[in-house]
Amino acid sequence: MQLDFTTLSPLEAYRWLASSVTPRPIAWVSTRSASGRDNLAPFSFFQVISDEPPTLMVNVGSRDDGSLKDTLRNAQDSGELVIQLVSHAQAEAMNASAAVLAHGVSEFEHCAIAGVPAERVSALRVSGAPVVFECRVAQIQPYPAQQPNCHLIFAEVLLAHIDDAVLNEQGRLDPQRLDLVGRLGGSHYCRTTETFALLRP
Ligand SMILES: Cc1cc2nc3c(=O)[nH]c(=O)nc-3n(C[C@H](O)[C@H](O)[C@H](O)COP(=O)(O)O)c2cc1C
Repeated sequence: MQLDFTTLSPLEAYRWLASSVTPRPIAWVSTRSASGRDNLAPFSFFQVISDEPPTLMVNVGSRDDGSLKDTLRNAQDSGELVIQLVSHAQAEAMNASAAVLAHGVSEFEHCAIAGVPAERVSALRVSGAPVVFECRVAQIQPYPAQQPNCHLIFAEVLLAHIDDAVLNEQGRLDPQRLDLVGRLGGSHYCRTTETFALLRP
């Protein structure tokens, strides 16, 4: 079959893209509002886009009513965000934090997720996350330029926290111990523990 993306509805385009471009890593993003309220939400349109400077990218879409999500508002206002990677052990908490709450209502409190102070930014970081990146906002790019329906947040990594328990004997990340989840289509996820190695030619 073929799909003509120039005629697909945005919902259909989303469904085909989100269920084929898999697995996607999940950025579990914490931010703090101008009034000091903490926020936490997951985003799977997420990638590392540069190592020099070390930069991650998170795509925050608009809400159905066109309003901005709290993550974007807070990142715009504060210029800071924390990006956690999601372990299988924290998958349900991550999913719970996707609930749509009124601006200013903290997912940390609402979902009973423990937060601890970050060191370089004001936002909280999630306690128990295996990998945490404290970031400054390098750039926020509305997309597409003419009629934006999402914003790309370019986040420069300032400091990472790596749980010693996910390191191997050489001090490197061990995928088995890391046990991250990836987003598939619909409500499906996978784990990164089924791995194999290929040597470069
Ligand atoms: C696994 C997962 C991945 C998600 N990925 C995205 C995404 O890439 N972009 C997006 O705008 N929303 C995404 N969402 C939905 C947001 O998490 C949701 O809109 C959330 O309420 C935003 O919260 P906020 O207003 O506190 O920022 C995702 C939800 C889940 C559960």
